[in-house]
Amino acid sequence: MLNSHAGVNRIRNERLLAWVDEVAALCRPDSIYWCDGSAEEAARLCEQMVETGTLIRLNPETRPNCFLARSDPNDVARVEDRTFICSRSEQDAGPTNNWVDPEEMRATLRGLFSGCMRGRTLYVVPFSMGPLGSRISHLGVEITDSPYVAVSMRIMTRMGQQALDALGAHGSFVPCVHSVGRPLAPGERDVAWPCNDTKYITHFPETREVWSFGSGYGGNALLGKKCFALRIASVMAREQDWLAEHMLIVGVESPSGAKTYVCAAFPSACGKTNFAMLVPPPEGFAGWKVTTIGDDIAWIKPKNGRFYAINPEAGYFGVAPGTSMRSNPNAMLMLRENCIFTNVALTDEDDVWWEGMTEQPPAHLIDWTGRDWTPGCGRPAAHPNSRFTAPATQCPSMDPEWENPEGVPISAFVFGGRVAKNFPLVFQAFNWDHGVYLAATMGSEATAAAVGQAAMRRDPMAMLPFCGYHIADYWQHWLNIGLQDAATPPRIFRVNWFRKDDEGRFIWPGFGENMRVLKWIIDRCHGHAIGVESPLGWVPEYGELNWAGLDFPREKFHGIMEINRAQARTEVREQGEWFAKLGSRLPREMEAERQCFQSRVERSPEVWSLRSVEG
Ligand code: GTP
Ligand code: SPV
Ligand code: MN
Repeated sequence: MLNSHAGVNRIRNERLLAWVDEVAALCRPDSIYWCDGSAEEAARLCEQMVETGTLIRLNPETRPNCFLARSDPNDVARVEDRTFICSRSEQDAGPTNNWVDPEEMRATLRGLFSGCMRGRTLYVVPFSMGPLGSRISHLGVEITDSPYVAVSMRIMTRMGQQALDALGAHGSFVPCVHSVGRPLAPGERDVAWPCNDTKYITHFPETREVWSFGSGYGGNALLGKKCFALRIASVMAREQDWLAEHMLIVGVESPSGAKTYVCAAFPSACGKTNFAMLVPPPEGFAGWKVTTIGDDIAWIKPKNGRFYAINPEAGYFGVAPGTSMRSNPNAMLMLRENCIFTNVALTDEDDVWWEGMTEQPPAHLIDWTGRDWTPGCGRPAAHPNSRFTAPATQCPSMDPEWENPEGVPISAFVFGGRVAKNFPLVFQAFNWDHGVYLAATMGSEATAAAVGQAAMRRDPMAMLPFCGYHIADYWQHWLNIGLQDAATPPRIFRVNWFRKDDEGRFIWPGFGENMRVLKWIIDRCHGHAIGVESPLGWVPEYGELNWAGLDFPREKFHGIMEINRAQARTEVREQGEWFAKLGSRLPREMEAERQCFQSRVERSPEVWSLRSVEG
């Protein structure tokens, strides 16, 4: 078997060499290739993929060095029902994860991976999650038989020689094995997007390993992301007293130059990328600046009483539909070159298009399935979970501190679900425990980011599909970490951009206008807003938000802040049912907070409104 170390320096890490040999012996690839992460290497792999039909080169004038991939129609998102946490004890995976006994799963995987890379190249992809040399970063190595995954990992992580150097002879790494699960017979022609109907996304938390079979898409295949940086890392974080969260990180600079950093957790496809790259409204925010650290994952470590966060990623794998110069100009500018687009539409000029990019769709497109598309044909041109893969360095709003190995100090944690009813635009927890409870009980509606979700579900901390252990233990970890240090932890907030009126329209304009809420959050962190106590938490009075340039009358604000007692009672009851499912590991603080909420609800009027406070 050809084992090409051509591009990389001599590997001195015995464990890595032995592991690659072992996986190769199982998967039987035709050759092995070690990725150095160079631009030349990426160009070569992309050119090869253009030849095999996996990638389409976009117009070099309008999208230099950009490519389009179209996935198999059955491989378009994460597969939560095929995702497994194989801890030794079923109890440790908890009721919100799929569990299979690790020995049983290893036997299944041995069968699936045996010979699965025949006719293909095995790529060794060393990567760092987080800036090299940071005390918060960790190394991983992904073995994959997909060149699309290899070039995507180069965008999404610090990949190649630099990660190998950091690993050295004795460094440790999280081993991640990936196969599309589609071996080729001698002489057999490959398909554009190889994958397998049988899919397994499996995690072994005790041995910190990932094995993924059958999918080439996103979080199923780019194993540094959800599999390592969230599911495995959440387990590491519990053991080592830090947090691995499904959170964006933004910086907010006030006109005086003071900088405040905020982490925010929203479930998949609920607005993290938009919020991370927020552009303040043109009126009323002169001198305010919002900068981006990350849009999907935060690794957070306490030090001397403060929480410091890094973005472990180096690129953005963002939802394309809805992204436009109006909704997210920073993202649009970031996408001008060096990007891979997956499952978006192709224009007649070899450029990309997706729903929402422009008000008028082009007269003709090739849709994400490769078929002709015209406006009004009844099919979406881009898949609702179509995505761009873009280097973070190309985002105009990147914070100068984004690669600071120390991380940035976090002042607030914001949690936001997608809920049409009940929940106000913004409210603040009374204290840390209450905040953990508010985050833990967050609900959200299904989106296209994953297949096979319930229409409405609890999504604690936006981590339901990403927590690598028992969710109740995870809450306990959150409770502990806020108390372990003498200093005050970040303030906790809930937001809801998605409340709808009786006609089903969003009440809140969202996007850049979210700056008005973000500013109140920052004011609260610095003690500059007084707020009002509601049954759910502290809320702003109308006058505490900056309304310059937005027609959002007081009455409308009162409406979006209302708390309906009957609906709140239902919520209290359903939270109780949800807690009951988690059994004896539920921290007692959670049930205590629920009961406090219940008593506040019972003491509240039929409709709690700021009207009664403000007149
Ligand atoms: P993942 O990458 O899947 O983890 O998700 P994300 O949270 O980064 O998703 P993203 O920001 O790409 O969310 C895209 C969806 O959220 C699109 O449907 C947007 O239209 C919608 N969205 C984003 N911000 C807002 C907002 O402020 N208001 C409303 N109503 N929708 C928003
Ligand atoms: C998500 O679904 O939350 C994502 C996309 O960020 S994926 O990487 O596919 O998980
Ligand atoms: Mn995500």
